[in-house]
This record gives sequence, C-alpha cells and structure tokens, in this order.
Amino acid sequence: MSLSPAPAVDLGAALSRRAQSMNASAIREILKVTQRPEVISFAGGLPAPELFPIEEVRAAANTVLDRYGPAALQYSTTEGHPPLREWLAAQAGIPAANVQIMTGSQQGLDLLGKVLIDEGDTVLVEAPTYLGALQSFQPYLPRYVQLPTDDGGIDVEALEEVLKTTPAKLLYAVPNFQNPTGRTLSAERRRRLVELTAQYGVLVIEDDPYGQLRFTGEPAPSLYSLGLEFHGDPDRNHVIYSSSFSKTLVPGLRDAWVQAAAPIMTKLIQAKQGADLHTPTFNQMIVAELVQEVLPRQIERVRQAYGERARFMLERVQADFPPEVAYTIPQGGMFLWLTLPQGVDTAALLPAAVERRVAYVPGSPFYALGGGENTLRLSYTSATPAQIETGIHALGDLLRGAL
Ligand SMILES: Cc1ncc(COP(=O)(O)O)c(C=O)c1O
Repeated sequence: MSLSPAPAVDLGAALSRRAQSMNASAIREILKVTQRPEVISFAGGLPAPELFPIEEVRAAANTVLDRYGPAALQYSTTEGHPPLREWLAAQAGIPAANVQIMTGSQQGLDLLGKVLIDEGDTVLVEAPTYLGALQSFQPYLPRYVQLPTDDGGIDVEALEEVLKTTPAKLLYAVPNFQNPTGRTLSAERRRRLVELTAQYGVLVIEDDPYGQLRFTGEPAPSLYSLGLEFHGDPDRNHVIYSSSFSKTLVPGLRDAWVQAAAPIMTKLIQAKQGADLHTPTFNQMIVAELVQEVLPRQIERVRQAYGERARFMLERVQADFPPEVAYTIPQGGMFLWLTLPQGVDTAALLPAAVERRVAYVPGSPFYALGGGENTLRLSYTSATPAQIETGIHALGDLLRGAL
C-alpha cells in the first residue's frame, strides 16, 4: 500500500501569537560566545559555585529521607511544604496562606504575568530592568512603559507624572541591588512608590532575590512591608513580593516563593497547578531543613565573599578605566553597571573584548523599549582576584581605544 503524500502543515503559522511574541534571550546567545575557557567572563550572573554548601545539602537530603521516607518522593500540595511556608510566613510576619512556594522565582514571575496581565495592559518597568521578567511577561502581551532611574533607583517624580496620564496595571521593580545595575531604591523613594501606586490603584511586583546579600550600607524596608504597613492587612496589600533561595543557598534546587494577598494567591495556586502541580517535594524538604542554621551562615559567607569581590573590582575599574566611564557602586548583590559616553555601542564592542579574552553583557537587552546601547553589565561573583585584575585591565584598554 502506498502512502499518499502527507498534507503540509504550516508549523510556523501553527504557533500561537503568544509563542510568536517570545524571543530567545539575548543574553543566553551572548553567553555561548563568552563560555570559552580562555575567556574571563564577567557576563554570567551565576552564584559562586565554590560557596555552595554541598556537605550540608548532602546531610539534609539524608535527614529528609530518614524522616519522611517515601513522602519525600511523593506528589505534594501545590501551595508548598508546610514547614517551609510557615517559616517564610513567620519571617515576613504574615499567615502561611499568603505564601506560595515557586519553582524558582522565575516561575513566580511567569505565573504572576499569567494571572495579572491581559493583552495591552500597561506594565511599568525600570529602565533598565531584569531581562528574565521581560521574557516572562512578554507572552501575555503587555504594553511597557519605562521608568527613568538614577543612582537612587526609580525616579518617583517621573513615576508620578506617568501615573497622572497613564492608567497602569502593574509596576515591576527590583529594589535591592538590581539586576542589571546593582542599584538600590532609597528608603524615601520606597515609601513614595508605595503611596503613589496605592493612590493610583497600580499593583506592584517587588522582585527581591538579592536583598539578603547586602555587604555595605543600611537595609531599607521592603516595598511589601511598607504596603503591609499602609493597608494593615496582608489580604489587602497591593504589593506582591517574590524572592528565592537561588542566590542565598543554591539555584539548582529551584526553590523560591511569592507573598501575595488572598485574591491573587487563589489564582496563583490554580495557575501553578496547571504549570507543574507543585515544586519538587524533596527539594522543598531539603531547603526547610537548611533554613534554620545553614542559611544564615551561608548568607554571611556569600555576603562577605561578594563584598570583597565587588570592592576589588571597583578598585580595578577606578584604576584602569578612562574617566569618561561612569559606574554604579553596589551595596550588595552581584552586579556593576557601566555607562560609556553616548555613541559607544557595547554590543558592537563585545567581539573585540572576547578577542582580548574578557566578556561582559551589553546593556541594551535590559531595556524593555530599547536604548542603553552605551551601557554594559559586569558580574563580580565568580571571578578570582587575578581574573578581575587581568580582565578589568583588558577591558580598560579596550574602552580607552573605543572612546
Ligand atoms: C531580578 C531577578 N529575578 C529573578 C531571577 C530568577 O531567579 P530564580 O528563578 O533562580 O529564583 C533572577 C535571576 O538571576 C533575577 O536576577
């Protein structure tokens, strides 16, 4: 029997508009070029692997298997492992019902996009902002408005001007040691941002994976806690908080959480059921085992190491870079942000940098609506002092030649 030729299906056209709106992460593409072993890469934003608490994770895994047996490997509730949720809730001073465990905060951002953004909704984002959030929100087809930022984070006067004329659905912000700039939103601006967004009926997503990694300066209250103070009730808080164990403990367990008011939480749980039923039971149990003693030690260790690496990189930048290059001074987190004179294109310069065996991430992909061609991001977390010295020197040479 001969088969008749199969009818052609236009597979490209079969993709949903949602899927067609997705882009490959510009950064992932760039990282492929920079991963050659001879290249000193300040491009990746990976936590330092030599600081991972491997023995502690091994011991916790054994304890969990001994204690819970097959339940550690069984399906479990969508909301999350109760002891972990309860611990997180106690830290924030809220009921466990307002805490949802997520498979990485990236999942939290995706599911928040799913339950909050209708096509055409206005989403306010920092210029620049975390690229992964743009990637998560993009399939829900928002309309972005960029908020200007400076060394104190979002310019709240500019925010007020935007809110006066633009009905917005939500504001997404990374107030602590932002990815990509390393900047921190000042305490006064936090209060004003929470007041303004409440006044104009705009939800806030506070994305805070780095907040615990402060190595200098005074901590500022979270937007979430200010929202709680403002409304006096976690179920009326217009600020949604997202954080993660990725940067404090390890990223590979993919354990993170969202704190939100009941009406949002109900939908988040339903969305998560559809996405993955629940975050891996075993991983949540391991993290719950580590939060009491290992996590605080680990935070201290990471903070100290990143603080030293940041100080050293800043010292070298100051010594080796031409004076026209402006740079942020992070109080924590993993990143430095450089602004070169207008007209210098850091994406175009990258191949020359890789030739000199040093890599960075060009800044433009971090802008929702484009711009920032003269900016770039450096990560200091996984480089040795010798690599920082050599790499920053090579980059300084390159920049001097380009100006
Ligand atoms: C600002 C920000 N949010 C969220 C994430 C995602 O982290 P995870 O999914 O590992 O919790 C990252 C990772 O780099 C980040 O920088």
